[in-house]
Amino acid sequence: MEKLSIGIIGAGYIGREHARSLRLVRPMFEGKMTIAAIADKNLEAAQAAAKDFEIDRATDDVNSVIDDPSINVIFSCLPTKFHIDVIARAAKLGKAIFFEKPFAVSMEQANAVSDILTSSGVQNQVGFVLRYAPTYHALKKLLDERAKESPLRTVILRDDQKFPISGISHFTDWRSKADLAGAGVLIEHGIHDLDLFEWLFGKVARVSARMSNFAGYPGIEDYMEVRMEFANGVTGNMVHIWHDIPAHQSIRHFEIFFHKALLTLDTYDMHHITVRDEKAESKLERPDLYQMIVNDPLFKDLSNREDMLFVSDYYAIQDYWFVRNLLEGNLLSPTIKDGLRAYTVAHACYESAKNDGAWVTVA
Ligand SMILES: NC(=O)c1ccc[n+]([C@@H]2O[C@H](COP(=O)([O-])OP(=O)(O)OC[C@H]3O[C@@H](n4cnc5c(N)ncnc54)[C@H](O)[C@@H]3O)[C@@H](O)[C@H]2O)c1
Repeated sequence: MEKLSIGIIGAGYIGREHARSLRLVRPMFEGKMTIAAIADKNLEAAQAAAKDFEIDRATDDVNSVIDDPSINVIFSCLPTKFHIDVIARAAKLGKAIFFEKPFAVSMEQANAVSDILTSSGVQNQVGFVLRYAPTYHALKKLLDERAKESPLRTVILRDDQKFPISGISHFTDWRSKADLAGAGVLIEHGIHDLDLFEWLFGKVARVSARMSNFAGYPGIEDYMEVRMEFANGVTGNMVHIWHDIPAHQSIRHFEIFFHKALLTLDTYDMHHITVRDEKAESKLERPDLYQMIVNDPLFKDLSNREDMLFVSDYYAIQDYWFVRNLLEGNLLSPTIKDGLRAYTVAHACYESAKNDGAWVTVA
């Protein structure tokens, strides 16, 4: 594509985040990209985003943006249930589509989204933003190095978040409604981790899961624990929790055990990884991680953008690559294929949890 004219559908938390990111990277594309319009059923939200992020047009008419012939790229940033409508309409018109995760409220709907995108052949990318986080790329390098010394044995993750239905960033309540969100903490937050785990550790072969519902919203689990076995024999344990501790930020805590080393990462700031082995305990701080990734093709051309790399502004890095790959005619990543795979693993977890933790093979 020679020029991109972008329409953002949804001006809530993530719609604004994309608007911010796109505006940040726009000068790097020297007039080849514009943010033409933003739509939200809440006109004030659309207008506020347009003002804050220098977007030409704000409207409450979603379809007028998707149908606009001058717009060739659509960002789908509505509550989960509605992605399929945006994707179907935009795909029919042949537009490139960035769609947020999770992109469906059921396995059936996930398959339908995949069919739409695959049969239309439009360029598409799913919002697995952690794939663009410098810290995880540094972690991947460390994993490869450590694996030469002793085998990887098991991986433990605790992923927690204040129930995202109130507060400064998450102020809407659709995540407490099963018809709009599909389910709770695993599909809404943990799907990032299911994708990340396969990217970092290999294919998941089978899962055993249990869930519970403390806050009491029907169909919305706020606790999910998953035991997993990878095809390569590594095991994993994940706990996902939505809590009500306003002072505690959303955090992912990883413990990665090799036979002769332990790597830990707390994602409060995404800026340090601790490595313990038979010799010592060492802490890789932000500048160390920066040095580890700065020559990676994904980050090399951003090496002078400390605001993006140094503070791990992975939304901006993600959107930079989406725009750049479209302009250069490269393949996008991750796509619906990766999205459907993570959705399939999540579905297996729900099947197991409904069946008292019985092991479910992931196809
Ligand atoms: N990748 C990530 O890290 C990430 C982070 C947050 C949210 N998300 C995903 O992004 C999507 C949106 O989440 P959010 O946090 O921005 O939600 P949000 O509630 O903050 O924003 C959604 C916006 O959509 C508007 N809206 C709702 N229904 C609409 C409709 N039918 N037509 C037009 N506008 C409508 C609302 O007015 C609201 O402004 C969800 O799928 C969510 O899971 C992804």
